[in-house]
Amino acid sequence: MNGLLIVDDEIQVQTFFSYLLRKKDIALSFAGNAAEVSTALEKNIYQAALVDLKLPDSNGLDILKTIKKRMPACRVIIMTGYSTVKSALEAIRLGAEDYIEKPFDDINELETLIDSLFTTPATQRQTDLMQLAEQTGFIVGTNPDMYNLLSLAYKIARKNITVLIEGETGCGKEVLARFLHEAGMRNSQPFVGVNCGAFTETLLESELFGHEKGAFTGALHSRKGLFEAASKGTLFFDEIADASPAIQVKLLRVLETREFMRIGSEQIRHTDARIIAASHANLEQEVEYGRFREDLLYRLNVVKLVVPPLRNRKEDIPYLVRHLIRRHHMDENAFAPETLSVMQEYDWPGNIRELANVVTRALALSEGEPGPITPDYLPAAIVKQQMISFSPSIEKPEQKSPLSKPSLEEYVEEWKRELLTQWKNSSSTDLPAVMDRIKELEKTIGAAFVGRALKESWGNQQKASRLLNISVRKLRYLLHEKGK
Ligand SMILES: Nc1ncnc2c1ncn2[C@@H]1O[C@H](COP(=O)(O)OP(=O)(O)OP(=O)(O)O)[C@@H](O)[C@H]1O
Ligand SMILES: [Mg+2]
Repeated sequence: MNGLLIVDDEIQVQTFFSYLLRKKDIALSFAGNAAEVSTALEKNIYQAALVDLKLPDSNGLDILKTIKKRMPACRVIIMTGYSTVKSALEAIRLGAEDYIEKPFDDINELETLIDSLFTTPATQRQTDLMQLAEQTGFIVGTNPDMYNLLSLAYKIARKNITVLIEGETGCGKEVLARFLHEAGMRNSQPFVGVNCGAFTETLLESELFGHEKGAFTGALHSRKGLFEAASKGTLFFDEIADASPAIQVKLLRVLETREFMRIGSEQIRHTDARIIAASHANLEQEVEYGRFREDLLYRLNVVKLVVPPLRNRKEDIPYLVRHLIRRHHMDENAFAPETLSVMQEYDWPGNIRELANVVTRALALSEGEPGPITPDYLPAAIVKQQMISFSPSIEKPEQKSPLSKPSLEEYVEEWKRELLTQWKNSSSTDLPAVMDRIKELEKTIGAAFVGRALKESWGNQQKASRLLNISVRKLRYLLHEKGK
């Protein structure tokens, strides 16, 4: 018979489970404190345990550790109140399979969960998870950190809680946000993304909250904002660190009250959007620098997921490359093993986005040529392990060398060569990939001009933006967009 251990000091909870599971073929045991847990583990074998996080004499996390140590195969579910969601997530990191919130408002869901503990093997869950990830374009190779990240994301996807995603540029923050949406309960509703650095303050405000006809010059029609559009779905704030102080205050208010007004209207509207925010900057540091509101960070940071940079998970490169090749509908084994090894030596400062560009380029250049793709089709910088830096840093412009003229020329030349190769050689073209390269050119050129202007103005962003006839905000945006 299946053994289930319930660890909770409240008699009502024990009675509830006895009643709920009375007709099932489950041997139930109860423990109300650490000592009783130890005794129970000595007497019986348990396939699963439900553990309350708050016990009178000890912490649920310690109980979890004890169970996992004595019976590693026992699947543990943590029971918690909303206020302790953070500890529940800690429990998942320590090996708990999932958490459920008390009081239980969906008894059916609870029953299904308990049944699945005995019927669905943990390995099946892993396979399901990998399949779902792949369907949403989230590729995980063999790196354990990535697998843990994915598995944690899967567990919280269904919980509706606000998630903050941090990670370097191009490492897959948006891919993760989409996975959270797809694996969640709202996957039939819209996923709406907004890049907080891409708009002026006024435009972003109208984009988010909407406006009424005549609210400002040019407002010819009334328009819904994104909080309304995503009300039943997910609203994804990309580059949240770029939101201006005024926008930050407004966001905070909506997150606190779930209410907002369209610009030019007094009518209070309600939004139920699930919020996911992403940032390539460390927001705690931004708070320290006084650039980000602490209270807003607190609201966003119910759960923080950090996507590791590609250089810390180089073993995943072959898996990612195969996936990126499939996106072009080509033979996934097109790259010679030697080429993959060279790619694994490189550090990928632009992470998976850079990897995707390199794959697209190699496929284009080698089109029509026989045999596997050799390292000759990789950019010289990767083979030679030296990158031309297109990316002057904002904080310390004097430390990196902004783009010098010959390397911009080189970049443009290479870009042109690549485009013309596509144009001349292929009867079928992956036009979206070409358009991506055009966008990249635009951004690289933008960053190059910004880099030069910053150099000329000794790092002074105000001066540099005047030289370029753009706002400081736009300048910062271009800097962030470097090399995408
Ligand atoms: N785990 C992954 N599996 C497959 N492809 C991925 C993965 N992560 C990222 N990519 C691909 O890499 C590119 C960049 O990903 P994404 O836009 O999610 O990065 P990002 O972290 O949001 O970048 P940025 O900070 O520049 O906004 C996309 O083409 C995406 O499809
Ligand atoms: Mg992004």
